[in-house]
Amino acid sequence: MAASLKVFFSFLLSIAYFGSSAMGKMRPPFMGEQKNVDTDWYDAHATFYGDMAGGETQYGACGYGDLFQQGYGLETTALSTALFNNGLTCGACFEIMCVNDPQWCYPKAGTIKVTATNFCPPNYSKLDGNWCNPPQKHFDLSMKMFTKLAQYKAGIIPVKYRRILCSKKGGVQFLIKGNPYWTLVLFTNVGGAGDIKDVKIKGSSSDWIQMSRNWGVNWQTGVKLTGQSLSFQVTTSDGKMLQFDNVAPSNWQFGQNFDGKKNF
Ligand SMILES: *[C@@H]1O[C@H](CO)[C@@H](O)[C@H](O)[C@H]1NC(C)=O
Repeated sequence: MAASLKVFFSFLLSIAYFGSSAMGKMRPPFMGEQKNVDTDWYDAHATFYGDMAGGETQYGACGYGDLFQQGYGLETTALSTALFNNGLTCGACFEIMCVNDPQWCYPKAGTIKVTATNFCPPNYSKLDGNWCNPPQKHFDLSMKMFTKLAQYKAGIIPVKYRRILCSKKGGVQFLIKGNPYWTLVLFTNVGGAGDIKDVKIKGSSSDWIQMSRNWGVNWQTGVKLTGQSLSFQVTTSDGKMLQFDNVAPSNWQFGQNFDGKKNF
């Protein structure tokens, strides 16, 4: 009897112990929680598009326009459907190395670091060379970046890649476009995780307004905000939110770019 009681009590204790430690580990996530970018290495392939000067890489599907003007230069990549996430991955930064291809990989190439600025579209009618079709993870690099890793004659190379935090000089930039009834804001030079998952805008005489993503890194609202100074709450994919107060003064005009003066 005593022995079975002892067993019973140690059983209760173990439930209490394991129960509480499991609870501690299994705390359910809540909305807006910060979550680090996954920086594990994964396998993919890479090709290049355009020429050594970045021709064809400009005015891509993320909406950045002139990549030199926006500070991205030639250190850019287009992403296949599997990585592009319908444009949500725009602005994310990747470190990439050529692997397992001794014929074409430069042995001392090391790694390159690029920002996602474009989409590599699938082509379902093509019989081969469909590198960007789902579910393949593929980087279509600028020629300049591809040729840092391998000979251009390789055409396609196996790579390993990982997400890295974006290190950008200066503040997040806000380019305001649209018209009085439709404000469209392009966010460039975003550091940290680099890819934006949520934006709120506030006029000096409005409340915070939820913006919706139109395309690429262009976020929109139909609320009239002309004549008001503008503030933003920008949240990157890791859940980190930065508030930019009075980025644009009340006399801002469509087509103007403003410097947020800080970065992730
Ligand atoms: C898709 O592939 C087909 C066959 O190679 C080609 O004719 C067509 O131009 C391609 N489409 C695009 C949008 O590149």
